[in-house]
Amino acid sequence: MTKQQLLEQDLAHIWHPCTQMHDHQSTFPLIPIKRAKGVYLYDFDEKQYIDCISSWWVNLFGHCNEYINQKLQEQLSSLEHCIFAGFSHKQAITLSQRLCAKLPKSLNKCFYADNGSSAIEVALKMAFHAKLLRDSAFSKSLEHNQESGTFFLSLQNSYHGESLGALSVSDVGLYKRTYEPLLLRNLTIPMPHTLSDYQEVCTTAPDSKLIAHYEQSLSFLESTLKHSTQIVALILEPLIQCAGGMQIHAPYFVKEALRLCHEYNVYVIFDEIAVGFGRSGSMFALEQCSVTPDFLALSKGITGGYLPLSVVLTNDQIYELFYAPYQENKAFLHSHSYTGNALACACANAVLDIFETQNILETNKHKSRYIWQNAQSLQKFAFIKNLRQMGMVCAFELDSINTRKGIEIYNKALELGLILRPLGNTIYFMPPFIINNEQIDYVFVSLQKIFENLSGSWE
Ligand SMILES: Cc1ncc(COP(=O)(O)O)c(C=O)c1O
Repeated sequence: MTKQQLLEQDLAHIWHPCTQMHDHQSTFPLIPIKRAKGVYLYDFDEKQYIDCISSWWVNLFGHCNEYINQKLQEQLSSLEHCIFAGFSHKQAITLSQRLCAKLPKSLNKCFYADNGSSAIEVALKMAFHAKLLRDSAFSKSLEHNQESGTFFLSLQNSYHGESLGALSVSDVGLYKRTYEPLLLRNLTIPMPHTLSDYQEVCTTAPDSKLIAHYEQSLSFLESTLKHSTQIVALILEPLIQCAGGMQIHAPYFVKEALRLCHEYNVYVIFDEIAVGFGRSGSMFALEQCSVTPDFLALSKGITGGYLPLSVVLTNDQIYELFYAPYQENKAFLHSHSYTGNALACACANAVLDIFETQNILETNKHKSRYIWQNAQSLQKFAFIKNLRQMGMVCAFELDSINTRKGIEIYNKALELGLILRPLGNTIYFMPPFIINNEQIDYVFVSLQKIFENLSGSWE
């Protein structure tokens, strides 16, 4: 098939995610990809594109990584998949042991699913069910339909996925507004704006300025917890709210929010689907917050961007609530056909091998510094605001009232061989960890070119 035929066949049959398909007529192109290697995707004209967004934040060690390929091929010759109820396999067992060993001791049980949103559904359902089992006043109040309060708390600007439960606890209007009538009861905690001087404020003890920054959110949270008896859990993305515009928050906030919830016997769910596996600078963001949630959801980078897999970790106390001779209302009867897929688990074990043998987190510190130095070249543009960075995420806003300005940048970047995918007016750089200095230089020189050409037509 020629490139043109591929495009025609695609548009005849495929409805792409997160896309107004009409935009492919003229606003931005659809690009069939022929192959990929390292940070590059190649189209059918052999044009190369740097994957500046790690293909929706999943790719850690490059496309067609030789080591992950090898481990995947080895797994293919023995077991591709088997039912995970009543059966198990070595890759999932090894992966679970290794994840638990890397996380706080109490996170000791792994429940697998097959994508980020599904992990959020698992965490919400498990938390709700655990509260029913733990708290008889709660279950009675539901039986008698007393109160019609909220069950979940989440943060302004949060994003936890787009299945209905996950969307209920998300706060990105673009994805949520239309479906509001279908959603679960959730209350959004107001949040202050992102921190841009993260390094300064977060490496030292919280000062009065930082405490004041979060005061309103934390007091709103506390008074909500005080006045409601039906709240099951607070869910949050620790340190970076990614799809909400790469909003960076201090460990102080996460820590205080968790402390308050636990004071009021409310569970805390950390969604590290996007920031886990080194993206925040540490292996898991919770390490920088020095706290342990009741539930932790992981996905995306877990397989290095190879195959869909997710997991929710929880503690023995919660597990024990469900552990009893069979009764329907005590078992957690949630399932997905591809739960614990052996190929995906083999990739995840390969990803952990790479972390363990190649000093990735230390190397990333240097890379992240190099990205930050390069990013300073953008400060000269008056319309670039709020340049910020945390770990392997660097972001800024375009000061424009035109909310589709990002699309113009997206198209210009494609011409120069960069895949950027702005979130509204937020432009971010979140590359695979194997990106090298020369490639980083190319990205920022190209961005300067794009912005120089745009300067004249700014609004
Ligand atoms: C923090 C967070 N949670 C959940 C999800 C949903 O994951 P998935 O797209 O695999 O359903 C995402 C996806 O971007 C995310 O960033």
